[in-house]
Amino acid sequence: MPKDFLSLADYTPGQLRALLDLARQIKLYPRAFNDACAGQTLAMIFQKPSLRTRVSFQTGIQQLGGQGIYLGPTDIQLHRGETISDTAQVLSRYVDGIMARVFAHSDVVDLAANGSVPVINGLSDFNHPCQVLADLQTVEEALGDLQGRKLAYIGDGNNMAHSILFGCARMGMHVAVGHPRGFAPDQETVRRAREMAADTGGSVLITEDPHGAVDNADVVYTDVWASMGQEAEHAERLKRFEGFEVNAELMASARPGAIFMHCLPAHRGEEVSAEVIDGPQSVVFDQAENRLHAQKAVMVKLMGRRR
Ligand code: CP
Ligand code: NVA
Repeated sequence: MPKDFLSLADYTPGQLRALLDLARQIKLYPRAFNDACAGQTLAMIFQKPSLRTRVSFQTGIQQLGGQGIYLGPTDIQLHRGETISDTAQVLSRYVDGIMARVFAHSDVVDLAANGSVPVINGLSDFNHPCQVLADLQTVEEALGDLQGRKLAYIGDGNNMAHSILFGCARMGMHVAVGHPRGFAPDQETVRRAREMAADTGGSVLITEDPHGAVDNADVVYTDVWASMGQEAEHAERLKRFEGFEVNAELMASARPGAIFMHCLPAHRGEEVSAEVIDGPQSVVFDQAENRLHAQKAVMVKLMGRRR
C-alpha cells in the first residue's frame, strides 16, 4: 500500500480491492476491529465545512481504539502563514495520521511529502477519493460485481467527477460523464482514466448529452452544481446547467433497476429532483454510511501497521 491516500489513481486495482474487502469486513464485524488503531491519534485539518467527513472520521478512529483531533480553519497557524511543510513536520511528531480537507490539491500532496505519517485526502478541489471508495462499496452491495457495470455521472466535471473517473476505470467499470458545455472534467484526468480503463476492460465516455450518458447505466450519479468555494457562481451555474437535473425522465434512460447516487449535500430541484433522491432507486444514505466503514479500512491499512 502507498503511505498516503491522496488519489484513487495511486492505488492499483488489487489495492483498491483489498480496501473494499476490508471495508466490508469492518461493516460486518465492527467489534473485531476495536483496537486496530489503539492509542493512535488522527489530526483532522478542515479548511472547508463538512458533515459526513468530519463525523465519520471522528467516530471511525474512535471505534478503532484511537482518537481524532479536529483542526478547523482558524484553529491552527496555516491561515496565519505557517507553511504546509512545517505543519506536516510538526504534526508528524505528535500524531499517527493526518486527514485533510483543503482547497488546493497541492496542499495534501505537500502534507504527504513533508509529513512522515500517512496523509488521507478528505476532499480537495481536484478529487474526493474517500467518497468514491465508499461509493464503490455501495455499488457492490447494491448490484454485485463492479466489473462491466456502467456508471453515468451527470453535471459538473469537478472533484467528484475526477475521483469517479479514476475509481470506476480502476475497477473495470464503464463510466460516462454528461456535462454542460464549459464544465468538462480535467483533460489530463480523462486521459489517465482512459489508460486505466484500457488495462481493466472498462471504458470512458465524455459527452454533453445527459441522455446519451445515462443510456443503459446501472448507476446514475450527480453532485452539486456549485462546489464549496464557488458560491459566487451559483446563480450563473443554475442557468448553464439547465437540462442536467437528474429527474424521473432522465432516470428512465437508465437500466430498469438502476440506482441513484449522490455524495451529499444535495440541492433538491437543482441537480436532482426530490422524487429521485427520496425515491426507491436512491442509495444516498448507504453511501453516507459507507464513508464510515471505507475510511476505517483506509485508517487500518495505513495507520494500523505503524503500531
Ligand atoms: N460527501 C461529503 O464529503 O460530505 P461533507 O462535505 O459533509 O463531508
Ligand atoms: N463537489 C462538492 C463535493 C462535496 C462533498 C464540493 O466540493 O463542494
